[in-house]
Amino acid sequence: MSSKTSASAKAPHAKSPAVVPRHVAVVMDGNGRWATRRLLPRSAGHKFGADALKRLVRGCVQQGVAHLTVFAFSSENWNRPEQEVTALMQLFVQALQKDTGDLAAQGVSLRFIGDRAPLHSEMQELMRHAETFPVQQPRLRLNVALNYGGRWDIVQAARALQAEGGDWTEANLARHLCLADIPEPDLLIRTGGEHRISNFLLWQLAYTELYFTNTLWPDFTEESLADAIADYSRRERRFGRVAGAKAAGGLRVA
Ligand code: FPP
Repeated sequence: MSSKTSASAKAPHAKSPAVVPRHVAVVMDGNGRWATRRLLPRSAGHKFGADALKRLVRGCVQQGVAHLTVFAFSSENWNRPEQEVTALMQLFVQALQKDTGDLAAQGVSLRFIGDRAPLHSEMQELMRHAETFPVQQPRLRLNVALNYGGRWDIVQAARALQAEGGDWTEANLARHLCLADIPEPDLLIRTGGEHRISNFLLWQLAYTELYFTNTLWPDFTEESLADAIADYSRRERRFGRVAGAKAAGGLRVA
């Protein structure tokens, strides 16, 4: 476990670190505090947070990360004030309408994970459109967790396994989880100073390296990502084994 304050020398983001995680997961926390400190409504923090997400995507493409999963809206976020939930949904709709083409041009394909049933039908249609938008040269798969909860994911996988009538093994359950077709996250980044998983990818994070930073999400830059990856590349990943299996989940590029 580490934080930006404890991370050692800063790596300039133009320089590739030794080991690039294949899959990075991010809890984008701190939008509300960022806005409140500026005497702005919380929704303004989410708007600037959307810009930070664009920087993160650019950074991942530059660094050669293959999969990025971000927590945009949790199953629990419905409990926020109605005005904030509405503003967030509007932001998602606007981003889907405006940014899908730009993402595809960068080689970024989109997928959504979470329970879509309670979402507005227009939004569900935009999500389907974004997921089928052609991407000529895929470089990064961006998974957006929307109305997602790690416990929900495990329950829906369990239901699918029960319906299939398969044996109750870890491997069989894992086949039905969201993101079953990609490697589990190598690195989880959480901004905003809290050291929690908050019902994100509970099953999939079992062996993920955790990186916490006090940076509030709207302030997160490509350089912040490079710092997190540099920190990750110094970790020794053992997956429950003994020492000697350095960063086995990552792609060694240097
Ligand atoms: C947590 O910060 C952030 C969220 C619940 C929303 C995340 C959404 C974005 C970054 C918007 C961009 C996403 C897309 C897909 C366009 P918080 O509000 O809990 O912050 P606080 O802890 O300071 O209150």
